[in-house]
Amino acid sequence: MSAIELRVGVVGVGHRSVVATLANRPGVARVVSCADPDPRGRADARRLFGPDIAVHEAYEGMLDDRLDAVFVLTPDYLHASPALWFLRASVAVFVDKPLAITIEDCDAVLAEAARSGSRLYVGHNLRHLPALRTMRELVQSGTIGQVRSVWCRHFVGHGGDYYFKDWHAERAKTTSLLLQKGAHDLDAIHWLGGGYSRTVAGLGDLAVYGGNPHRRAPGDGAGRRMQDWLDLGGWPPSALRDLNPVIDVEDLSMMLARLDNGVLVSYQQCHFTPDYWRNYTVIGDEGRLENFGDGLDGDPATIKVWNQRRSGYRRDADLTIPVAMPADGLHGGADEALIGEFLRFAAQGGPTETSPVAAREAVAAGVAATTSLREGGRPVDVPVLPPAVADYFTSADE
Ligand SMILES: NC(=O)c1ccc[n+]([C@@H]2O[C@H](COP(=O)([O-])OP(=O)(O)OC[C@H]3O[C@@H](n4cnc5c(N)ncnc54)[C@H](O)[C@@H]3O)[C@@H](O)[C@H]2O)c1
Repeated sequence: MSAIELRVGVVGVGHRSVVATLANRPGVARVVSCADPDPRGRADARRLFGPDIAVHEAYEGMLDDRLDAVFVLTPDYLHASPALWFLRASVAVFVDKPLAITIEDCDAVLAEAARSGSRLYVGHNLRHLPALRTMRELVQSGTIGQVRSVWCRHFVGHGGDYYFKDWHAERAKTTSLLLQKGAHDLDAIHWLGGGYSRTVAGLGDLAVYGGNPHRRAPGDGAGRRMQDWLDLGGWPPSALRDLNPVIDVEDLSMMLARLDNGVLVSYQQCHFTPDYWRNYTVIGDEGRLENFGDGLDGDPATIKVWNQRRSGYRRDADLTIPVAMPADGLHGGADEALIGEFLRFAAQGGPTETSPVAAREAVAAGVAATTSLREGGRPVDVPVLPPAVADYFTSADE
C-alpha cells in the first residue's frame, strides 16, 4: 500500500455512503470532501466523516480539495457525469454498480478512462462475496467439468419497500430493475459462465405494484433513503403504502441469454416474494452446483455439488461446503474487501477482481434484455464494446 494517505471524496451521501466510511483507514486513506445537493446529504457528510471535511452542493467544487480518489454514489442515472468529470481530472474513480443506465454512457466512461489513463473501478461487491467466490473457485478447479449453463433466481423480498418507493421505480432513472438490481447478477453470471451475453430475450411485467393505488404525492418523502422505507410488517405486497408517484419499471423480469462462449443463461428476478436471497445454479458437463442461502446480511450459505453419479433427488450432495463468513461486515464482508481493493488500486493500480469492462457488459445485457421484454420477447443482440477501448482494458489487465 502507498505510504501516502489518499485524499478521498464522496459524491452523493445517501444510503450507500456507508461504503465510503470503510475508506477511512489511517495511513491509507481519509475522506476529506463530499458533495450532495440535498441538505440531508450534506448534514450526513459531516456526521459520517467529521465536522472538518469540505462539504459542497455541487461535485465540481471538490476538485479544489486536491483529491486522489472519489466515490460516485449518486443514483444510477447520475453516475456518468461525475465519473467523466473526475476521470478527466486524473482522479481515481469508484462508481457503484450499475456503471450507468445506458450502454452509451458506459462506453463514454470507459473511453474516457482509456483516453486519460485515470483509474476506473466499478463497485461490483458480489465478486467479493464469500459464497460467490466459493462457487467460482469450484467452477475454475473443474469440479463440474466445463460450464454449459448458469441459472439465477433472485427473490427480492424487500422489493416493494426498497425499489418501488423512490427513484428506483422510474425507467428514466434506472432503465429497468432488470438492469438496476440485475447488474449484480448479470455480472456474477458472466463471471461464473466465463463469457459475456451477446444475444438475449426477455419477458416481464409490472404484475403487483402497478395496481396499488397508494402512491405518495410528488415531493412527499423527498430525501428519504432506502432503509427509511423498510417495513417488515408490510405483508402481503398489496398492503404496501407510500409507493413512488411514478412506477413504470417491471416487478417481475425473466431473461435468457447466450454468452460469447456458448454458455446458456437463465435469469429471473421477482420483487414480491416473501424471502430475500439469490440462488445460483451452475451446470457443467460433469456435475452441477448450487448455493443455499447467499451469505448476504448475515444469512448462512452452503454450496452443494453433485458430480459423482446419477440418482433421484439427493439432499446429501457429493460435496457440501459451508461458506465461512465474517461475523459482521457489510454484504457478508464483501464491502470491506471491495473498498480495500479499490484503495489499493487507486494508489498502485494492478489487477482487480472487479472489471470495468465486465460492469459495462452487465449493463449492456440488462439494457438489451429490457428492450426485448418491452418488445414482446424478441431476441436482441448486445452491442460489443468498441475494440480500441476493449484493447486498452485488456492490456491494463496484463
Ligand atoms: N453495490 C451495492 O450493493 C449497492 C447497494 C445499494 C446501492 N447501490 C448503488 O449506490 C448508488 C446510490 O444508491 P443509494 O441507495 O445510496 O441512493 P440514495 O438515493 O440513498 O442516495 C443518493 C444520494 O446522491 C445525492 N445526489 C443526487 N444528485 C447528486 C449530484 N448531482 N451530486 C451529488 N450528489 C447527488 C442524493 O441527494 C442522495 O443523497 C446507486 O447507484 C445504487 O444503485 C449499490
